[in-house]
Amino acid sequence: MALLEILKYPDPILKQVAKPVTSVTSETVRLIEDMVETMYAAPGVGLAAPQVGVSRRIIVLDIDHDNPGKNLLKLINPEISGSEGELLWEEGCLSVVDFTVEIKRAARVELKALDEKEKELKIDAEGLLAVALQHEIDHLNGKLILDRVSRLKRDLYSRRLKKMLRGDKPPPENPRVMI
Ligand code: NI
Repeated sequence: MALLEILKYPDPILKQVAKPVTSVTSETVRLIEDMVETMYAAPGVGLAAPQVGVSRRIIVLDIDHDNPGKNLLKLINPEISGSEGELLWEEGCLSVVDFTVEIKRAARVELKALDEKEKELKIDAEGLLAVALQHEIDHLNGKLILDRVSRLKRDLYSRRLKKMLRGDKPPPENPRVMI
């Protein structure tokens, strides 16, 4: 297993729509294992393949870091098949340095995906897991949390980021849940 580099906004790979996985190879399985290790190390509750530079429809999630691995999800070609309700959650993203924002999402989602053996999985999620699934699927569609805020907020962030990148002070550590 290996730790992978997490790409940060404005890396262009993060804007691409990721391609479906057509067959699960040993390379796919290794990528997924590396993504899991990278997610736990970050630490984050979810990670999408485009965030590590691979434009394929693969996500990993674990919202229960107290029991790592117990509720780990490794999803290939995930697709939302139903949703209901609304909830607001303050989201941060491992690919967007020092930025959090409240985003309105569906409160409950139903999702279909394949596992590593290409068996179909069905998932019913609510709360943080529902938020994280929608956030990661956004990554597969080339969308970041910055694409879900007003242009003004996005421009302000771009300016702040440029200053951060110019300065010699590292950005502050974000204590919130990162997806
Ligand atoms: Ni993210």
